[in-house]
Amino acid sequence: QHFNSGSKELEGKRIVITAGGTREPLDPVRYLTNHSSGKMGFAIAKAAQLAGAEVTLITANTTLPKPESVKVLPVETARDLLQTVQKQFVDADVLIMAAAVADFRPATVSDRKIKKNDHNETMTLDLVRNPDILKEVATTKKASQIVIGFAAETNDLITNAEKKIKAKHLDLIVANDVSQKGIGFSADNNQVTFLFANGDQQKTSVESKQKVAQQLIHILSHRLISRQ
Ligand code: CTP
Ligand code: CA
Repeated sequence: QHFNSGSKELEGKRIVITAGGTREPLDPVRYLTNHSSGKMGFAIAKAAQLAGAEVTLITANTTLPKPESVKVLPVETARDLLQTVQKQFVDADVLIMAAAVADFRPATVSDRKIKKNDHNETMTLDLVRNPDILKEVATTKKASQIVIGFAAETNDLITNAEKKIKAKHLDLIVANDVSQKGIGFSADNNQVTFLFANGDQQKTSVESKQKVAQQLIHILSHRLISRQ
């Protein structure tokens, strides 16, 4: 029932979006990270803001300009990101996890620069698992809250994404093939399959990340929020 034709589709909704790739320090000069640029998360933030939502964008190490009228909270590591997401999720209507979170971090962080010497031709790093932010958030999720994740896959896109939507208790997963040049990580374009909890699938064509973001926001307002 759209009585007010002038109102925007996400008016009054508070949306938390994560973007970029976490950095896991090894010593004062080095870290482990991934190829995420943050472009997809920023595009979603812009689309959500244009749709009238109150947007908080949690950024993990991006160099992109701050979108207009969006609150930006910068973080560094997966554990920083977990803390900030948990705090912001409490009174949010929607969480969209577009960030590429490091699954592991160095077991110890040296406070001095790690030196090579005449003897060590090889080196082994000990890594420990990072918390799974979506899984942690699922344990506190209220029925009215909507949680959307991404699945970055190089193979078996749909099978892997289906496993993740179940394991992480998501309302929607954006399955993203990251094996092809020109779409996905760092690219300006993307092609994704929106996968719903009931098994429905909707595949986009190859298009700009801004267009993909607009489709996600449309699905969010018309299929997920309207259902609540
Ligand atoms: N994610 C998260 N916390 C992590 C790792 C991932 O919240 N520690 C989120 C990502 O932001 C994304 C979704 O989980 O929305 C899926 O991330 P992905 O890396 O594709 O899957 P993983 O569950 O980490 O599994 P794997 O990397 O082994 O495929
Ligand atoms: Ca992962």
